[in-house]
Amino acid sequence: MVTIDPERFRETFERYSEIGRTDADGLHRLALSEEDREVRDLFVSDLEDLGLEVRIDRIGNVFGRAEGTDPDAEPVLIGSHLDSQPYGGRFDGQLGVLSALETLRAFDDEDVEHRRPIEIVNWTNEEGSRFKPALMGSGAFTGELDLAEVLEHADADGVTVAEALDRIGYRGDQPVGPREEYHSSLELHVEQGPKLEDEGLSVGVVEGVFGMAWLEVVVHGDADHAGPSPMYSRKDALVAASDVVGAVRRLSNRFADDVVTTVGELEVEPGSINVIPSEVRFTVDVRSYDDGVVGDLVEAVEREVETACEREGVEYDLEEIWRIPHTEFSPRVAETALSAADDVGASHRAMVSGAGHDASYVNEITDTAMLFVPSVDGKTHNEAEFTEWADAEEGARVYVETVKRLADV
Ligand code: GLV
Ligand code: MN
Ligand code: MN
Ligand code: MN
Repeated sequence: MVTIDPERFRETFERYSEIGRTDADGLHRLALSEEDREVRDLFVSDLEDLGLEVRIDRIGNVFGRAEGTDPDAEPVLIGSHLDSQPYGGRFDGQLGVLSALETLRAFDDEDVEHRRPIEIVNWTNEEGSRFKPALMGSGAFTGELDLAEVLEHADADGVTVAEALDRIGYRGDQPVGPREEYHSSLELHVEQGPKLEDEGLSVGVVEGVFGMAWLEVVVHGDADHAGPSPMYSRKDALVAASDVVGAVRRLSNRFADDVVTTVGELEVEPGSINVIPSEVRFTVDVRSYDDGVVGDLVEAVEREVETACEREGVEYDLEEIWRIPHTEFSPRVAETALSAADDVGASHRAMVSGAGHDASYVNEITDTAMLFVPSVDGKTHNEAEFTEWADAEEGARVYVETVKRLADV
């Protein structure tokens, strides 16, 4: 079996974690920010040190290719993302990219022959917090998202994806999309939930991902003075919006056991203590493994918005900004991972993911699966996000072994 170098793996992780590190040991490395540029530069130089052919496409996805012994064989695609949530954790995404990097380094150490080429990738803007939607680089690559359209998406300051790519020098010259058929793909990620830790297991083999939809709602009220304006005369955008926030929470109980619903962004205008809110913008995130349930949830949210706005006498705009159906990963790749976990001696279970991953879009173009390692307290999208290093290493061992098997069949 190929052996990883645990010290190198950990040192590399610590080094990458310095770029965008927060005072609380988290990570603030928003997509296409200066910190993202810096970590990309490090990643590219690490790929070049390995002698890989590096290419960057027009949406900034960074690929490195290690040739196999059979030049005609379809490649295996490995990797994840290096961007983070605002004040997020160090493990989400980064651990997957660095497990892929350690895999190629481990092959290089021992001159391990692999029949298929192996391509490592860092996908642009997985998180979708600065620029919506999430999974942008992988979605454009697989054709699930429209490239021209997402390049024009702007952040809160009006900077578009295209401008941000130019600013950091990562609007590459390669066309976006596969140059050839891939054989398979594998992404390692932290679980971001409590199941593996609760069951005392080191590795999850991910067989599917929830479907999800994102909505953006803008409620238009009427600004007025908080003192002299009688209560009956008010059109308060925040009163309507906050009725919806509560309703969205309660919807999670109405459709299926696995439903999760979140309002994560909320902006109040003009935002003054003694002014009735004139405009509120908020987002809704709904998820379930059942795509029909996601559709029902979207309709239910629409009804709640309509009712709350009618009650308050305010207008609104509602837009569904993203929807992705649930994913069923490749049983063939999942079985390869399960047998590799057995042979490595890692305790494991099969599971599905409530978090979105680039692997979902990649699964549209090639047989794909994922490996999870435990998240302490199930916590993520938070600076406290943590994975025990022994678990990260165990996951990397299973990852290397699975990639080796995929690259040799
Ligand atoms: C990505 O992190 C998502 O699940 O929204
Ligand atoms: Mn992630
Ligand atoms: Mn994330
Ligand atoms: Mn006054």
